[in-house]
Amino acid sequence: MKILAIETSCDETAIAVLEAKPGAKSPRFKILSNIVSSQVQLHAPYGGVVPSLAMREHYRNITTCFEQALNEAYGKKKKEFDVVAVTMGPGLEPALWVGINFAKSIALAANKPIIGMNHLEGHLYANWLSNEAKNIKFPALGLIVSGGHTELVLIKNHGNYKLIGATRDDAAGEAFDKVAKLLGLGYPGGPIISKIAEEFKSKSQNQSSKFPANTAGKQVPSFKIELPRPMIHSKDYDFSFSGLKTAVLYLVKELNKKYSTEEITPPIAKEFQDSVVDVLIAKTLRAAKEYKVKTILMGGGVTANKELRARMAEAVKKELSNIPLFVPDLKFSIDNASMIGAAAYFHAAKKKFMKMEKIRANGTMRL
Ligand code: KG4
Ligand code: ZN
Repeated sequence: MKILAIETSCDETAIAVLEAKPGAKSPRFKILSNIVSSQVQLHAPYGGVVPSLAMREHYRNITTCFEQALNEAYGKKKKEFDVVAVTMGPGLEPALWVGINFAKSIALAANKPIIGMNHLEGHLYANWLSNEAKNIKFPALGLIVSGGHTELVLIKNHGNYKLIGATRDDAAGEAFDKVAKLLGLGYPGGPIISKIAEEFKSKSQNQSSKFPANTAGKQVPSFKIELPRPMIHSKDYDFSFSGLKTAVLYLVKELNKKYSTEEITPPIAKEFQDSVVDVLIAKTLRAAKEYKVKTILMGGGVTANKELRARMAEAVKKELSNIPLFVPDLKFSIDNASMIGAAAYFHAAKKKFMKMEKIRANGTMRL
């Protein structure tokens, strides 16, 4: 089965062509093309994604992305596909409509069935793009950590989900973005904070002083930085990251009385990242044990975070050594259309297609 997948829920115009071959335990996906056109540079000066600009850029770029996706996938061969998959939500409504209407036009013109997809389901199914996907067993636990969502999902089977925990305020990625903004680091915050934290960590390990020389080579006086681990001991599986961001704000104000923001940014970035990672790991492990899951799957932009990837792998190995942990390849951690295509396969295999009019942008769609 060949799937044309389209994703425009936020600031990436993404189109992929996948070939899925059914297998005994899991289908094998061959990615024929995976085009991602990022608008990050455009939104960066605003410190976040501007929905109207995102929509305009999707309109501007989508046909070029489509042409590129087809050319890469088929070359001079006949451009055939069996189904069109498109993200319906959650996401920014103006942005979603661009992909949806484009996908509908193609499905109509090519006379092919269409499936409206959940973006978060896509993030989880990025794990089925792995060659090891045959080892994914149910029930599985999914940790979704993106710019808009932080959720723990019990996956009983394909398409059978139970939300067991979610953020009560800011998502993990949103917290990275907001903390980066208040430290004057730019957008998106996740990659910048993780880079600074990583550099600081390796410097701290190589030097005896607690908080070593900053990038300017100046010795920074020692000061202890401690941030809370919000809700780490709460009995539920919910998260809260808004207070953490506020704690960073107060800490910066306090430390700014003595030190420049440049001086305090590296240790704060590391402590903030450690806090988010600690909470995500603690809740994921506890949920995995309580629900006796057979696999843990992670998905969403924040899984691009090296510290989270490494420490989650370490913790799962130590405490749940018989449970495999899946984290998507870096290029499938951030928004892409291949993950939407992979998730769509499982709907298409059951012929769960949708009527055109049922496919509508839904900013607040749940899994
Ligand atoms: O899944 P995604 O690409 O888009 C949404 O569905 O929201 O996730 C984007 C989020 C942003 O908040 C970004 O700061 C965060 O993922 N992110 C990271 C890293 N790379 C991207 N967060 C922490 N560490 C990273 N390396
Ligand atoms: Zn996403």
